[in-house]
Amino acid sequence: MCGIVGYVGPRQATDVILEGLRRLEYRGYDSAGIAVVHATEAGGTISSDKRAGKLANLEKSMATTPLAESGTGIGHTRWATHGPPNDRNAHPHLGSTGRVALVHNGILENFDALRVELERAGHDLISDTDTEVAAHLLERELTAGADLTTAMQRTCSRLRGAFTLVAIDALDPSRVVAARRNSPLVVGLGDGENFLGSDVAAFIEHTREALELGQDQVVTITADSVSITGFDGAPSEGRGYHVDWDLSAAEKDGFDWFMRKEIFEQPRAVADSLLGRRTSSGALHLDEMRLSEQELRDVDKIIIVACGTAFYAGMVAKYAIEHWTRVPVEVELASEFRYRDPILTSDTLVVAISQSGETADTLQALRHARAQRSRVLAICNTNGSTIPRESDAVIYTHAGPEIGVASTKGFLTQLVACLLLALYLAQVKGTRYGDEVTQVLDQLEQMPEHIESVLAAADQIYELAAAHTDAKTVLFLGRHAGYPIALEGALKLKEIAYLHAEGFAAGELKHGPIALLEEGLPVLCVVPPRDRDQLHDKMLSGIQEVRARGARTICIAEEGDTAIAPYADVLISLPKVPVLLQPLVAAIPLQLFACELATLLGHDVDQPRNLAKSVTVE
Ligand code: M6R
Repeated sequence: MCGIVGYVGPRQATDVILEGLRRLEYRGYDSAGIAVVHATEAGGTISSDKRAGKLANLEKSMATTPLAESGTGIGHTRWATHGPPNDRNAHPHLGSTGRVALVHNGILENFDALRVELERAGHDLISDTDTEVAAHLLERELTAGADLTTAMQRTCSRLRGAFTLVAIDALDPSRVVAARRNSPLVVGLGDGENFLGSDVAAFIEHTREALELGQDQVVTITADSVSITGFDGAPSEGRGYHVDWDLSAAEKDGFDWFMRKEIFEQPRAVADSLLGRRTSSGALHLDEMRLSEQELRDVDKIIIVACGTAFYAGMVAKYAIEHWTRVPVEVELASEFRYRDPILTSDTLVVAISQSGETADTLQALRHARAQRSRVLAICNTNGSTIPRESDAVIYTHAGPEIGVASTKGFLTQLVACLLLALYLAQVKGTRYGDEVTQVLDQLEQMPEHIESVLAAADQIYELAAAHTDAKTVLFLGRHAGYPIALEGALKLKEIAYLHAEGFAAGELKHGPIALLEEGLPVLCVVPPRDRDQLHDKMLSGIQEVRARGARTICIAEEGDTAIAPYADVLISLPKVPVLLQPLVAAIPLQLFACELATLLGHDVDQPRNLAKSVTVE
C-alpha cells in the first residue's frame, strides 16, 4: 500500500523518482507526487507537484511544468486510507512554511489528537490525511533547531501506528531522511548515490545491493553515506543483501500485462522454488529452516495464517500436512486470528504465508503467536521483508518479483513451499518412509513440465473467456485440494474482472448454492484425478446435478477422463498428477480465464480498482 521512493546523488532526482514510482505503482495508484530540494542563495527551497489518479497524470503535469533541477528528492504513489484520492490529499505533504516535504505509507493511529494539538498551536492543516500531522511535527522540530535526522527521531517517538516516512528539508539538500515502523522500507546502495524504496523494484535498475532496515529505525542517506539509528538516536545497523533478480524481471517483456507475464513465468518460478532442496543423499533439505528437528518433532498442532490467495495456499497445505504427518492443522484468516483468542502453546507451529512479507494482518497474527510462545515459520517470496525477519524460520519461494496485483506465480510457489514443508515434517517425524518422500519430490520436479503443457493450451481458455464476456455470475466448484482452487478461481475473477464469482466445495452445492443455478450460468468444475475414485465419482454427481438445472459445465479434468466428458459442455484437460499436486496445474486455466476476461472487458488487469498489491494496513 503506497509506494515510496527517495534519492540523493548526481542524477536528476525527478527522473530517478518517476522511474521508481513507475515500478512501485502496483502498490497504489490513487495519486502520485514528487518533491525535490535544491540550494538557493537564500538557503534552499522545495518544489513539488502532486496529482490525483495514476502516475501518468503527474508525468503529464511535470512535462508541462518541470520541477527544478536537483539531485535530492522523494516520491509517492498512494493507496488512499484517510481522505478521498484528490490533489489535496496526495503526498508529499508540506509543513506550514514549506520547509519540509514528507511522504508516508501506513496509518498514524493518533493523528486526531496530534491534529488538535497542532491546530491549537496555530498550525493550519489543509488535507484530510493522517499524514500531514507528521509533516508539521517534523517542521516544528526543524524550526526549533534540530537537524532533519534528529527531527525525524523526535517526530517518530510521538507517532502511533504503522508508518514509513521519508522527508526532505529545504535547508539541507544533501540528505533524505526516512523512518519505519510496521511498514516496509529498503535502502539501495549505489556508487556515489543512494536510494530508498518501499521495495527494491524502486531502484533495481541502478543497484542490486540493498540494506534491510529493522523495526523503529531512522535512516539518513546522502550521496555517499548511509547511517542508521533507533528512534532514540542510538546508532544501529541494517542487514545488507544482494538482490538475486534484475531489471528484466521488473519489465513486461512484450506481454500486455505483468499478470499474464507472471502466469507464463510459472514453470520457472516453480522450478526455482524447488532448486537445492535435496541433500547429496537425496533427503529433503530446507536451508532456512532454523527450527531444530527436535523442535519440529515436538510440534503437536499447526495453525496456518494468511490472507487472500495465500490463505487458499494454506488450505491446500492442510490436506498435505495432515495426510503425510497426521498432525492436526487449522487454517485461519490472519485478520481473524488474534481476535478469537486462539489456543497456542510452545508446541504449536504457526505458519504465516505471505508473498510480500508485509501484509499487516499476517504480521500481527504472527506477533500474537510469538507473544504466546509459539514458533512461527514464514513462507515468503520477499527477501528482507518484515514477516520472515520476525519469524523463527522461513521457507523462501523463488518466484521473482510479482508485480501484477492478482497473485499467480506467488500462489503456485506458495503451494510448492507448503508441499515441501509437509514432506519435511513427514521426514523429520518419520510418518513417511524416505522413499515415499523421494517419490513425491520426484513428482514435484516434473511439475514445471506439466505447467508448461497447460500453458501451451492457453488459446482454448482465451476462447472460453471470449464466450463469457456477458457473464454476470460465474461459479466454481471443487473438492478436496480442488476446493481451495475453486475459491482462488473465484477470487481472481472478482478482483480483476469485477464479476460476481463464488467458489464452493462441490458437496455443499445441494445445501443451498444450488438455488443459484439457472439456464446457461457458467460453472467451472475442478475435477479430482480418477485414482481418487470416491472423490472423482462424487464430483461427477455434482456436475450432473449442475447440468440437470441447465447451467453450463466447464470441467477441468485429468486428460483421458472419459467419465466426465459426456457431462462437460467444455472440457479442459490437465496432465495426470497426484491429487495433492493437482492444484499446481488446475489453478492455471483459472488464472488465464480471469486475465483474458478482464482484458476483454477493458479493465486494467495489473491495477484493478480499489486494490493494492501489498496490504500494509489492518
Ligand atoms: O502478500 P500476501 O501474500 O500476504 O498478500 C495476501 C493477499 O493480500 C493477496 O494474496 C491478495 O488476495 C491478492 N491480490 C490475490 O490475488
